[in-house]
Amino acid sequence: MKSPAGLLLSAIELDRTSAIPLYRQLYLQIRKQILNGRIQGGVRLPSTRTLSDELALSRITILNAFDQLIAEGFLASRTGAGTYVGTDWENRASEDEQPRQPPRLSDLSQSMLSLRSDHFRGVSYADWDPATPTSFLPSHSSYDAFPQAIWRRLMNRHLLKPTKAILGYGELQGLQAFRQAIAEYVFDARGIDCNAGQVVIVSGAQQAFNLLGMLLLNPQDSVWMEDPGHIAARIALQAQGAQVVPLRIDDQGIDVQQGLSECPDARLVFCTPSRQHPLGVTLSYARRQALIDWAAEHQSWIIEDDCDSEFRYSGRLLPALYAMDQMARVIYVGTFSKVLFASLRLGYVILPQALVEPFCTLRAVMDRSPPTLLQATTADFMGEGHFLGHIRRMRALYKARQQALIEQLQTQIGSFFRITPVEAGMHLIAWLPSELSDTEIARQLAEQHIHTYALSDYRIKHALPPALLIGFAGTPENQARERVEALARALRALGYLPPAT
Ligand SMILES: Cc1ncc(COP(=O)(O)O)c(C=O)c1O
Repeated sequence: MKSPAGLLLSAIELDRTSAIPLYRQLYLQIRKQILNGRIQGGVRLPSTRTLSDELALSRITILNAFDQLIAEGFLASRTGAGTYVGTDWENRASEDEQPRQPPRLSDLSQSMLSLRSDHFRGVSYADWDPATPTSFLPSHSSYDAFPQAIWRRLMNRHLLKPTKAILGYGELQGLQAFRQAIAEYVFDARGIDCNAGQVVIVSGAQQAFNLLGMLLLNPQDSVWMEDPGHIAARIALQAQGAQVVPLRIDDQGIDVQQGLSECPDARLVFCTPSRQHPLGVTLSYARRQALIDWAAEHQSWIIEDDCDSEFRYSGRLLPALYAMDQMARVIYVGTFSKVLFASLRLGYVILPQALVEPFCTLRAVMDRSPPTLLQATTADFMGEGHFLGHIRRMRALYKARQQALIEQLQTQIGSFFRITPVEAGMHLIAWLPSELSDTEIARQLAEQHIHTYALSDYRIKHALPPALLIGFAGTPENQARERVEALARALRALGYLPPAT
């Protein structure tokens, strides 16, 4: 067994090229060994002469390190008897002897970890490089087409003469001017008649789902969810202990009848009426009315997630569900993640008046409000007419991108995928031969740096044919051909397509 002195000496490694002085390196390393229990309290250290010889350091250097360790109570010096590790450090088990335990987490955190790991199995964000030209990840907008110069100018205006309002704690509900701009926008674009006092700014729609779960649900409350549906929202509500009731999606949207017969007294429904996520269906008028009638009768809530209604290319954009509701049961959630950019982390909730104050109280506990600078810049972007122009341009761009991608997919891989254009949103659904596993294909493609999502990741209970979600918003028309060539090459290499002739 090594003597304590031997242990100490074997563990000390000095870097003579470092800018950190040698006495400080020695001090840090001895302190670390005491703190992690490798050298116990009461142990006598080698003499400064031994250390000086063994470590090829001057005694002054060693004395400097010791002086500091003595001053901090790590070492004690006894006249004529040498230098000892302070007795306060006795009986510390060495880190090496302690089995590494996983951190102790709350039940909530454990359950979220397990819910999360069920999703994104093969297609992890960890190896996703946004610059990868072959990525077809849905939910990503065309960052290259964002009007950077205008944005910079508007933001600079606030940065050049920052006011207290910009630098201090913001209004809890969100910047008044921003809420006003949103209220006007949703009136024109979504038929929603609300006042700025009903709008609360959040850090993205995802925060709204979490806060609404906290606000409205008790553990074990039942929640109707679309199946397949938005995974992150489901996890947020499950984290509050909600029991999910998965409802089928057909060509009219969520199957309200199934909810009525299986669990009529659910507390809440989460739905995406404008473009069902991920299948793309529009919720029919009849189903909208049925949802509102059910919520009114049972005093239940409807969360309407309207994340990308701006991007509709054909078919009719129906007014928001919120606009049909006379009974104040619908809570509308919008976001700037798709229409501007996702890292902005700005979203909004339009609440029945009675929920505003309790919602804001939770908001305050969470994180107050998003950066006022970003709210003010976005408000200016809206107020000065850039927002609507940007939406118009993006809609035309995404429409053209979808068309170009479909043409290439059909020409190059049409025998493998069955693809129909989508009327709205930012991704296509490429149906696969029925015997294949979409999760397996998505995982294998991700290994080849081609990122898609498997439709079955979105499924809760009801079986679905296999399909991949292929984002088109991030693929410029003039790159569609080469990106699909890369996809075809990968599918050939994986044996899903015959070799090229
Ligand atoms: C269906 C759906 N709703 C909402 C969002 C927006 O979330 P956030 O505003 O938190 O970025 C997304 C993001 O991908 C989504 O897919």
